[in-house]
Amino acid sequence: MSTAPSIPQITLTRPDDWHLHVRDGEALRTVVPHTAAQFGRAIIMPNLKPPVTTAAQAVAYRERIQAAVPPGVSFEPLMTLYLTDNLPADEIARAKAAGVVAVKLYPAGATTNSDAGVTDIRKTYKTLEALQREGLLLLVHGEVTSPDIDLFDREAVFIEQQLQPLRRDFPELKIVMEHITTKEAAQYVAEAGPFTAATITAHHLLFNRNAIFTGGIRPHYYCLPVLKRETHRLALVAAATSGSDRFFLGTDSAPHPAHLKEHASGCAGCYTAHAAIEMYAEAFDAAGALDKLEGFASFFGADFYGLPRNSGQITLRRESWVSPDSFAFGETELKPLRGGEALPWKLVA
Ligand code: DOR
Ligand code: ZN
Repeated sequence: MSTAPSIPQITLTRPDDWHLHVRDGEALRTVVPHTAAQFGRAIIMPNLKPPVTTAAQAVAYRERIQAAVPPGVSFEPLMTLYLTDNLPADEIARAKAAGVVAVKLYPAGATTNSDAGVTDIRKTYKTLEALQREGLLLLVHGEVTSPDIDLFDREAVFIEQQLQPLRRDFPELKIVMEHITTKEAAQYVAEAGPFTAATITAHHLLFNRNAIFTGGIRPHYYCLPVLKRETHRLALVAAATSGSDRFFLGTDSAPHPAHLKEHASGCAGCYTAHAAIEMYAEAFDAAGALDKLEGFASFFGADFYGLPRNSGQITLRRESWVSPDSFAFGETELKPLRGGEALPWKLVA
């Protein structure tokens, strides 16, 4: 078997992160600069406490995020609203006028700060009609919440029970299935037509569920949807590197104070924003598909959202560097995924 010569450096059109949690308050000062150093734009998740449910709240939140962007750095937060059983349909036109680009569906109880989420999707149909009409996107956390369904099966069951009927009822609503984790989701999205896409995280491309249990329980690898078996990871790598414009980059970087992850009931969420594009480069390189990274990271998301592609560039070099193992996070500490470990790709410009 011949080995391809290793590429020493790659230059990409500036990428975007189509799924990101930045929290609020002091936390913004730590995490926003990490993302802004790599990405031109990011879709900001609305699962604050309380959630972002009005256009006015989204605008105020955007201003707080912009205030945390370092001087001289160009970064645009793209805002979303949190779908509840009673988000009024007429809020959608106001949201669009305010520059909000999407609405996020969390099934109630599915994950961090999802208590206000949707209990029955039919209750939201008037609002979804407004979304489809106004051309905003629906972003989906695709997991059922029933305790009867095994945690590892919740995504596949969601597709059958919730997503397929929703897709039929709103044929022209643009839907992004966020952070897909299974071969069932990759296959569904590949076949679902031009109005359905998916984001894939770096950690789901790099790790399978063994990572949560290697040498002891490792809470920093715990996120939702949880890491799956190797067959699923391989299906995600195949989808991400396929060149299909239906799959694009979304880190789901989700910071939590370290003491709340290293806890008897630790929070779900992996923090990857400190080295996100480097980790994607590592995953694409391992698959021999660095030539497919730019479409996935820099083009397909913008195209699906109907936004212009970025014009700047970034450069990554094959150079080992050790990520910090901790960052100040307000009054607490933030431990990034793979902190203190050597990473093979480095953002150099
Ligand atoms: O692991 C996760 N963390 N999954 C989510 O869906 C939410 C996120 C968070 O906000 O921490
Ligand atoms: Zn998320």
